[in-house]
Amino acid sequence: MPVKIVLGSQWGDEGKGKLVDILCASASMCCRAAGGNNAGHTIVVNGITYDFHILPSGLINPSCKLNLIGAGCVVHLPSFFKELGALEQKGLQEVRQRVKISDRAQVCFDLHCAVDGISEEILRSKDAKSMIGTTKKGIGPCYSDKVGRRGVTMAMLISENGQWEKRLRTLHQTYTGTYGSDALSHYDLEAEIARTKDFRQELIKGDYIIDATPLLSKTIGNNGRAITTSSQFQQSPDQAAKTLESNGDTPAAGSELFSNVLIEGANALLLDIDHGTYPYVTSSNTGLGGVFTGLAGLSPLSLNHPDSSIIGVVKAYTTRVGSGPFPTELGTEVANVSTEDAHSGDQLQSIGREFGVTTGRKRRCGWLDLVLVKYSCQVNCYTHLNFTKLDVLDTFPEIRVAMSYKDRRTGQTISGFPADIDLIANENLDIVYKTFEGWQTETTGTREWDQLPDKAKAYIEFVEQEVGVPIKWIGTGPRREDMVVR
Ligand code: IMP
Repeated sequence: MPVKIVLGSQWGDEGKGKLVDILCASASMCCRAAGGNNAGHTIVVNGITYDFHILPSGLINPSCKLNLIGAGCVVHLPSFFKELGALEQKGLQEVRQRVKISDRAQVCFDLHCAVDGISEEILRSKDAKSMIGTTKKGIGPCYSDKVGRRGVTMAMLISENGQWEKRLRTLHQTYTGTYGSDALSHYDLEAEIARTKDFRQELIKGDYIIDATPLLSKTIGNNGRAITTSSQFQQSPDQAAKTLESNGDTPAAGSELFSNVLIEGANALLLDIDHGTYPYVTSSNTGLGGVFTGLAGLSPLSLNHPDSSIIGVVKAYTTRVGSGPFPTELGTEVANVSTEDAHSGDQLQSIGREFGVTTGRKRRCGWLDLVLVKYSCQVNCYTHLNFTKLDVLDTFPEIRVAMSYKDRRTGQTISGFPADIDLIANENLDIVYKTFEGWQTETTGTREWDQLPDKAKAYIEFVEQEVGVPIKWIGTGPRREDMVVR
């Protein structure tokens, strides 16, 4: 069973949606492992724009029979049903039948969204710089309650014992104790309980909640034990089933149903709770580790399959929304950059149309940072890269790439991508750049490697050599077809 994992390699918004859309065409199962409706991407098919936040984008392909929201996710039910409704209105078929939620995923309540707003406001009132700049979708508070063992799982929600309501009341009481009732005066607990009861009925009636582990385990056959050698991977499903039987294992019922699994990352590595620019991160494991905790049953050994891959999506420059360090940031709002560099940042923002899909916020922009991308490759073990938005650089006379960081105070080179974010605060950092001559030729819509300008090829080949991972796809425009495949 080949598994393709698509992960954001920088701070999100790398343009994962397009590759996911392309790969979805051959996937019969698409899974989200972590995060909530803080993620967002837009897919344009036949002139219709579809927005995805919590739903897996396999829904766009009618033959993608199962779209799973895994145990590592937090699900805001009003948003889940609203998104399903929007996809139906745009004509997508059987979306409700093709989506399932793990019974171990957490319920993200409106209470969490309210608390997200309150905690940001508290940070802002102390010092605006310490705000995380969250999406205010309740992600941090919901994951905090999960880890604090106070949360509500989908299994609790659909159980007849009614404990979900008691737990929600306790959460409300605790938050009221922490922040005071005035802070939560705009939140209506009884209304949320009433709404949740309706959503609960809908979840039960529509059979949305499943035990995902046996299913994921079955998709690669018998807990992944039997079909793990490359020779067995070469076998047809029938042959593999016979091998399993001869080993005394039972072939998984339904294993033939899911011939290709696509795992769609949400957010991106530098927002990972453990490996990102903490505390300016989201609250889930957005990297490779999160895939296997969020989708238990999926064997890591499935990556041995010759057609499996871990694809890192790298934007040809860098963007970030929200607060936090950003070594290569440019733009007129950034302190200590030359007028020319400030202009380049503003150009990247406007040519790249860098506004958030989920929040509509203007994204911060800067040059490609290879220190960061190399770190991302180390953490996520990418086997291939998708380089995106190359065409945004078409008009630039010069293009720069960050090669290393130096501590401005000591002049010392900083090794790797540091955990201590003070080291990468702009005022403490000097960046060693390599400058490339721009190709100044339109590449939008190019589909063949040979048709790219030589200077663009040199830029891509340089990145590939530096990070040591092949760049298989190069995005050259917003449409599905605007992609060079090597
Ligand atoms: P939260 O995930 O809403 O808690 O936000 C934490 C940080 O992650 C903020 O800086 C957000 O802007 C950022 N963030 C969360 N999800 C995404 C995403 O999908 N793309 C880009 N930034 C994101």
